[in-house]
Amino acid sequence: MENVIFKHENGIAEITINRPKSLNALNTQTLKELGQVINEISERKDIYTVIITGAGEKSFVAGADITEMKDKTAIEGREMAKLAQKVFSNIENMPQIVIAAVNGYALGGGCELSMACDIRLASTKAKFGQPEVGLGIIPGFAGTQRLPRLVGKGRAKELIFTTDMIDANEAYRIGLVNKIYEPNELIDKAKEMANKIMSKGTYAVSLAKSSINNGLNMDTESAYAFEADLFGLCFSTEDQTEGMSAFVGKRKASFKGC
Ligand code: CAA
Repeated sequence: MENVIFKHENGIAEITINRPKSLNALNTQTLKELGQVINEISERKDIYTVIITGAGEKSFVAGADITEMKDKTAIEGREMAKLAQKVFSNIENMPQIVIAAVNGYALGGGCELSMACDIRLASTKAKFGQPEVGLGIIPGFAGTQRLPRLVGKGRAKELIFTTDMIDANEAYRIGLVNKIYEPNELIDKAKEMANKIMSKGTYAVSLAKSSINNGLNMDTESAYAFEADLFGLCFSTEDQTEGMSAFVGKRKASFKGC
């Protein structure tokens, strides 16, 4: 692959968007490569968590590639949005837990990519924003949908309408990021969190993700019923037997992820 680096070790996949000369801007090729890697990881049983970050020290992803976008027709613009929306939905709904390690600019499509991840960890250098209306377009990689769901409608509108860029502290304050670390600690801290998640019943973790994501798109009663079904399903797993036996036996559980 040209623009995406994928490696994995001990159950953790690391995906790096690698176009540092363009601050890791997402062109069609990069979106396709990212989609390919996500599909491959989704099928793998030996990967439980995924960390997505950007190459270099300056940027996570500085948005969709404006150079590529500028001459698009309406139909091509819609196709690009649909491609990115599909890739980002696949990230949001993959069975693994996905952590965005936001190491710098997360603008436009970059902020939207981070929001498709389950958890956002930011370096003190991270900057978030949705600059699209300043380019005469709107956020098109699901930013108008995920941002209000994360930070509320009022704050999302302010960020999108003003294009104000916010730093990691402000992003933390409004609930856009989960934690902030020094740049040199960021990836290690992301791995630490990944390892903590993997020490739990990973099948249950995946079902909890599904319950949260799917439940938020349902009416409340249906969401409760869906949660109850998944809760019941847990009782067919070895991890449930092990987890509860370990508690009762006052020992540490040893989960198998099944
Ligand atoms: N697309 C294409 N190239 C980009 C880019 C982008 N989104 N962001 C940065 N670059 C390129 C620059 O053109 C520059 O290339 P050259 O060296 O060839 O000139 C290189 O990356 C370095 O950038 P700067 O010189 O501009 O670096 P800076 O430190 O002065 O500024 C920045 C950094 C504030 C992030 C600035 O680059 C910037 O504003 N970038 C654009 C951010 C943006 O508007 N993103 C939203 C895109 S639209 C979108 O994402 C739509 C959607 O919903 C998906």
